[in-house]
Amino acid sequence: MRLDDLARGVPGAVLEGDGSVEVTGIAYDSRHVKRGDLFVAVAGIHADGHAYAGDAAGAGAVAVAIERPVALPTGLPVVKVPSTRTGLAEIAAEFYGRPSRLLYVAGITGTDGKTTVTHMAEHVLMAGGVLAGAMSTVAFSVSGAETDNTSGQTTTEAPQVQDWLRRMVDAGVKCAVIETTSHALVQDRVLACDFDVAAFTNVGHDHMDYHATWEAYLEAKARLIDLAASGAGKGIEKTAVLNRDDPSFERLSRRPIQRRWTYGLTTASDLHPLDLTMTATGSRFRLKTPLGETEVALAVPARFNVYNALCAAGVCLAMGVPAEEIGPGLAGFDGVRGRLERVDLGQDFSVFIDFAHSAGALASALAELRPYTRGRLIAVFGSTARSDHDRPGMGKAAGDLADFFIITTDDPLREDPAEIARDVQSGVVGKAPGKDYEIVLDRQAAIRRAIDVARPGDTVLLAGKGHERTMQMAEGSQPWDERVEAEAAIREKLR
Ligand SMILES: Nc1ncnc2c1ncn2[C@@H]1O[C@H](COP(=O)(O)OP(=O)(O)O)[C@@H](O)[C@H]1O
Ligand SMILES: [Mg+2]
Repeated sequence: MRLDDLARGVPGAVLEGDGSVEVTGIAYDSRHVKRGDLFVAVAGIHADGHAYAGDAAGAGAVAVAIERPVALPTGLPVVKVPSTRTGLAEIAAEFYGRPSRLLYVAGITGTDGKTTVTHMAEHVLMAGGVLAGAMSTVAFSVSGAETDNTSGQTTTEAPQVQDWLRRMVDAGVKCAVIETTSHALVQDRVLACDFDVAAFTNVGHDHMDYHATWEAYLEAKARLIDLAASGAGKGIEKTAVLNRDDPSFERLSRRPIQRRWTYGLTTASDLHPLDLTMTATGSRFRLKTPLGETEVALAVPARFNVYNALCAAGVCLAMGVPAEEIGPGLAGFDGVRGRLERVDLGQDFSVFIDFAHSAGALASALAELRPYTRGRLIAVFGSTARSDHDRPGMGKAAGDLADFFIITTDDPLREDPAEIARDVQSGVVGKAPGKDYEIVLDRQAAIRRAIDVARPGDTVLLAGKGHERTMQMAEGSQPWDERVEAEAAIREKLR
């Protein structure tokens, strides 16, 4: 694409120099510049990109985008933009041909359940005969073909987001579902996505060091509604799908948008379950929606998955799936990798792998597994190096809700795993170490220990790693596969 054509589509951009150069890619990290790239100097992604504009040119960048003057090789074309952060999103969108305008796009945000809702919605769309795409913590999916998300980010930087949207368009996808974190919203990574649906799970109190207050966190998430409300029109109503049972509801419901659908367990909500019964493997209910009713038999356990299903139903309904097709679509959904994923090798106790790695998520995973547990509820978990997680809170949750638990290691990076475990332990109330819980820092040994102590009817929850394929240690990223570890431990016991 010619630089002048690209610059023309970017709001507030001023081109200086030769606009006829051909741009073949977008880069924001000078170390990853390829010949032909337009380098966008963003402050904060990898230091301040303005300091590396010269390096980028040396590495083959044919032009740079900047927000303030910097010394550059003479003759290098420059695109001046009001902000390179928003500029990166606009430039990427323009470079990939504004793919979000050729798709119906839903964003899913909230504290817990984003990945699940994203893939549930994708599944219901596909089951309803609508080619769909999804981007999540776990995978990028284009019309059913999945690629692992190994980026370490749930919502990637704008160029990857736009690149995936483009691939979806090229594959004939009609609806895209994007898991959207509040970090991504604050950093404008999804700025140039023309959303049609903004859906919210719950808004808990995690990530408090990044967002100073709950209000600020809520405000960050609420921007998804604004993005939908202001996104390009595509002939469907811009819709916010809001959890009426969550404390965030009142605030979010004041955000202006064309249409608001609420979901929740009370009849005051637009989408709500009638005759809800929890079953051994999931739940069963008649789903009432603003556009009709549908029978739902969910094959994923836990009450929070009823909420996730209501949210996903709202998203699909807003994107045009008929109400009566939503029930059958949800019925075929068998879960997301690493989300209450059952490991069943015929043993006489249950084993689940779950990604829960915050105090709240650990508590809800344990609370949800309790009714399915005849014997004892056993948990294995640790806290990650990222200090925004409430470590004592995780200890408290396990102490309050598990019968036996093992504190272990989970992505310690450069922190001392023993110290992290002590932080977790400090929150445990009224439990005896050695009897009610143990600390086993080697995660493989911890899993083996938990499987070893399990008796018939017990449930073992392996929490934290979920779908992840790596363990982040001081010495770098090590391969990890929780399912492989769990299966090996079970096999050893069955021998
Ligand atoms: N709606 C929900 N409310 C509370 N907890 C949930 C909800 N949905 C899922 N969880 C818990 O959080 C974990 C992570 O779910 P996931 O869908 O990956 O959420 P996210 O992408 O927001 O981190 C699940 O395995 C489960 O333990
Ligand atoms: Mg996620």
